[in-house]
Amino acid sequence: MTKIYVWSLFTRLFHILLVIGVAVAFLLAEFESLLTLHVAVGFTIGLLFLYRVLWGFMDVKYSQFKDFNFNLNDLKEYMFSIFGTKKAYIGHNPASSWAIVAMIVLGLGSVFSGAVVYGTQEGMGIFSFLNFSLFKKMDFFKDVHEFFSNAFMAVIFLHIAGVMLDKVLHKSKAVASMIDGYKSGDAESLKLTLLQKLFGIFWIASSIFLFFYLLSAPSSVLVADANTAVDYKKEHPQFYNECKSCHTLYPPYLLPKQSWVKMMDNLENHFGDDASLDEKDKISIRDYLVDNSAENSTKESAFHILKSIKNTETIAVTKTPYWEKRHDEIDKSIFASKDVVAKSNCKACHKNIEQGLLNDKDIKIPEMAKG
Ligand code: HEC
Ligand code: HEC
Repeated sequence: MTKIYVWSLFTRLFHILLVIGVAVAFLLAEFESLLTLHVAVGFTIGLLFLYRVLWGFMDVKYSQFKDFNFNLNDLKEYMFSIFGTKKAYIGHNPASSWAIVAMIVLGLGSVFSGAVVYGTQEGMGIFSFLNFSLFKKMDFFKDVHEFFSNAFMAVIFLHIAGVMLDKVLHKSKAVASMIDGYKSGDAESLKLTLLQKLFGIFWIASSIFLFFYLLSAPSSVLVADANTAVDYKKEHPQFYNECKSCHTLYPPYLLPKQSWVKMMDNLENHFGDDASLDEKDKISIRDYLVDNSAENSTKESAFHILKSIKNTETIAVTKTPYWEKRHDEIDKSIFASKDVVAKSNCKACHKNIEQGLLNDKDIKIPEMAKG
């Protein structure tokens, strides 16, 4: 038995970056305000995988797909002999061969579907144009993305469990080999050609570069924001002046038509205040609100608010089930703090809301209020 070089430096770096990337992407998935980071990590994982696929066709001993074992009988034998004496594999055993292909397919599926969600739901990134045509399918694409991601995580879990079991039962060197590159046995060592080395350097360097590039260049095509700021002052001066005088200027897409009509027909008794206007202004503002109501918007919040309120006739955004759900984890004391003052003071946390923007990346709870 001799020491054999099995995993090139690039394969190992790829593996480490992937482990970190997937862990980070998974942990960030729940935090709206960290979406940009989640997306940058996601695209980086996608690029790492694309190179890995090419790497599989590049005549790299042990890493090339030709050297994978997809034989189902071997897989069966391998699985049944887990607790007994099993055949030793230098490169990928049948279980890891299948697991790797599954991870590549599910990982890439996860990245691609994630980009589609980013486009349809947020109006951002390379698929932002789909926000206009397919926004009604945003929840469907989100389910698809979650399906791929969860399946990906499940295979990762099985892969880790298999490797650990192998280590405990057979003192397998698989884990160490992913760090130092060596296994022991009787087989040929891996030797990279110059071209393969150059490819490897490019693989790792360009993936790391992509990650930092996406974070530093928000206008690049993969993450560009197609939501444009609205100048309400210019678009409808009466709306801007009247409706901003007592509180945040609520973008019209946050409520459905019927709510705006109901509210505008009862301005004398507006949440306990008298906000009445002369008839001409009232009708003009009402028409503007109706024309730009939730029904006529492709925004995520408009779509979900509309979907959540169904039949009730609420006129408060903060009373819609969607609003309540999205803010229920925020402590009441934060809303009451002197930086926020009230729930309805949206702009304390959504800095661009008065330009009609409610992007996840712009959500920020004031520092003082948190402490
Ligand atoms: C005289 C002051 C005043 C004016 C003018 C005014 N509002 Fe209000 N509005 C209030 C008050 C007070 C509330 C209660 C919420 C709060 O605590 O701020 C409120 C609440 C709202 C809410 C519900 C917010 C929530 O909690 O979801 C909407 C929507 C709203 N106003 C829209 C408008 C629109 C549209 C106009 C312009 C036609 C307007 N308001 C003009 C005082 C005013
Ligand atoms: C104290 C800070 C704070 C205030 C005030 C606040 N929000 Fe939020 N809002 C948040 C946070 C944090 C999230 C993200 C929650 C999450 O991660 O799911 C959020 C999420 C949202 C979302 C969902 C994101 C999306 O893209 O659909 C909408 C819509 C929204 N807020 C609207 C409003 C409106 C309208 C107001 C004012 C009536 C308001 N918020 C007031 C902190 C706040």
